[in-house]
Amino acid sequence: MSLIKKLESSPHRTIGGARTARERSLEDVIETVRERVLENHAELVMEARLSRAKRNEVLALVSELIVSGDLYVGRLTRKDLAERIVQELCGLGPIDEFLDDPTVTEIMVNGPYEVYIERDGVIYKTSAQFADERHVLELINRIVGSAGRRVDKSSPYVDARLPDGSRVNAVIPPLSLTGPVLTIRRFPRRYSTLDELIALGTITPQAAEFLRECVEARLDIVISGGSGTGKTTTMNVLANLFREDERVIVIEDSSELKLSLSHVIYLQTRPESVEGKGKVTIRDLLRNALRMRPDRIIIGECRGVETFDLIAAMNTGHEGCLSTVHANSTRDCLARLAAMALMAQESVPLSVLEAWIGSAVDVIVQQARVDSGARRVVEISLVGVSGGRIETATVYDVENRPGSDEWPEFFNGKLRRDAAERLKKALKGLNGGDAS
Ligand SMILES: Nc1ncnc2c1ncn2[C@@H]1O[C@H](COP(=O)(O)OP(=O)(O)O)[C@@H](O)[C@H]1O
Ligand SMILES: [Mg+2]
Repeated sequence: MSLIKKLESSPHRTIGGARTARERSLEDVIETVRERVLENHAELVMEARLSRAKRNEVLALVSELIVSGDLYVGRLTRKDLAERIVQELCGLGPIDEFLDDPTVTEIMVNGPYEVYIERDGVIYKTSAQFADERHVLELINRIVGSAGRRVDKSSPYVDARLPDGSRVNAVIPPLSLTGPVLTIRRFPRRYSTLDELIALGTITPQAAEFLRECVEARLDIVISGGSGTGKTTTMNVLANLFREDERVIVIEDSSELKLSLSHVIYLQTRPESVEGKGKVTIRDLLRNALRMRPDRIIIGECRGVETFDLIAAMNTGHEGCLSTVHANSTRDCLARLAAMALMAQESVPLSVLEAWIGSAVDVIVQQARVDSGARRVVEISLVGVSGGRIETATVYDVENRPGSDEWPEFFNGKLRRDAAERLKKALKGLNGGDAS
């Protein structure tokens, strides 16, 4: 029996203490195979992190490399070695089993020793644990790495969207006092039509009809609400009402919107690199989008200085834009828009800015989450300017506080006559009147 054969037949023993050139440390072999696989199959490896079937493809690939490279490591059979390498390449360690389980909608890692999951809206603590903080951190970077992002001391939190549509957030020390925290929201339910929102009890048929008219009239609409109140979902639904022949540009921090239209361009921001370069903001993308001949612009969420440019765009003929704002009421929403636009420091006095917002924004849709967990459109307001001041008129109120059936005077300048007529009709229908 040759030395090699003997080694193969009992790979856990090194005969006479002699190590052949090909026997290497596990780390070394893993590194070699990892490099070769990533060189040509990086995408497959990313997909394999979330898919059992893809992972089997990687296993076949790795097995082939082991055989062709005649690689082995003491103590491990080649099959075990291949599985170990695939685990290293694609595995997500302690949370693997939850990713394989389609009934798990949310995975929450609170530092190394606490892993919670959500099933059917109920949160459970699991027995899964990590070895230590580094282990969690490694996993976080493996996951967000597949979306081209990373976390470290200099950028201690990150948002990313994985190839399967899951959304990931991670925040690490020193921002987190709980150790590295990872939140994965998986396969978020997507609602794409007004009918679905009506069926969910989110909006009344009349209010849905009114919003449809608003979109068709190319009004600029801001959807306001707390976090998780369904703003993005509602915006997605409204965007799906755009005409097929409109060129739509979507700008987001982390890609969430998915429109059922054909002429759509999705742009996504980029955080700065490790060397602190290459950052691209919403504002940058918006300015660029204005040169792309857009018919409609969607900003996923206004959070800062880009608000100034969005308001400017809305005021300079870019009609029918959509965005969301994190705010708890219509009034709060307008205040936040002003505060965020001021952050741009474009030396426009607040009073001018406010009037400007009044003429830019046409409609505010306020959403909330109710105790049952349902999401509701609680208020719809029209926005305009009168006598140089911002004015609002609440036209719909879910609590049946009488909304105004009256067409607000200040809204007259905002629409062409035929569009105004249609909207007035929908407005009458909104509060129980006859819309037909
Ligand atoms: N109208 C709705 N009814 C029930 N659940 C909803 C509705 N809209 C969104 N959701 C759910 O709420 C969560 C947050 O929705 P999202 O639109 O991202 O909210 P926001 O943008 O306000 O943070 C998602 O899991 C989504 O499936
Ligand atoms: Mg959102």
